[in-house]
Amino acid sequence: MKNSFKTVLSAVLVTGVMGVTVVTAHSTSTGNAEADKRIQMMKELGANMKAIAAVAKGEAAYSAALNENAKRIHEIAVMMPDLFPAGSDTDVDRAKPEIWTKAGEFTAVSKDFEQASAALKAAVETGDQGKIGAALGATGKTCGGCHKPFREPKD
Ligand code: HEC
Repeated sequence: MKNSFKTVLSAVLVTGVMGVTVVTAHSTSTGNAEADKRIQMMKELGANMKAIAAVAKGEAAYSAALNENAKRIHEIAVMMPDLFPAGSDTDVDRAKPEIWTKAGEFTAVSKDFEQASAALKAAVETGDQGKIGAALGATGKTCGGCHKPFREPKD
């Protein structure tokens, strides 16, 4: 149990760290306002997940401010399907065409994320480090659950 929990947590952290790297790589516009907006939202997800991960790992102390991080993740999760309007795929962004051709599957993984983010918000409200870590790991899995089928690899 403990080991698998650690694996999930470190996977989440790696995602966070990679997110930071990507931020620098993507400082230019895609030329499409909708694509730019979702990339910005994804960066925000990465930053908010990282803040919660620091507390889950015991690197930062819990404070009520963490609720704002969890709230923002949930807000973005609720918006997620709307961040991918038809016509917002560009040559330079990393959204796969399957988002639009397999819309049912995309909606399903968006829903998984939304539900996990609601549970994360509830876990953060408890202030319990173990519960926060578990909910964070579960949420991180849903990020990957969408990135794997629907995000193109980096060039
Ligand atoms: C429903 C699908 C989906 C979910 C859920 C999702 N993402 Fe994404 N994410 C994408 C897609 C698609 C892209 C590529 C977007 C583009 O380039 O247009 C992306 C891109 C990113 C990027 C790269 C942004 C950049 O600078 O180019 C980061 C970081 C990111 N996601 C973090 C996260 C985190 C953290 C979570 C979970 C808390 C998450 N995402 C959940 C679909 C998703």
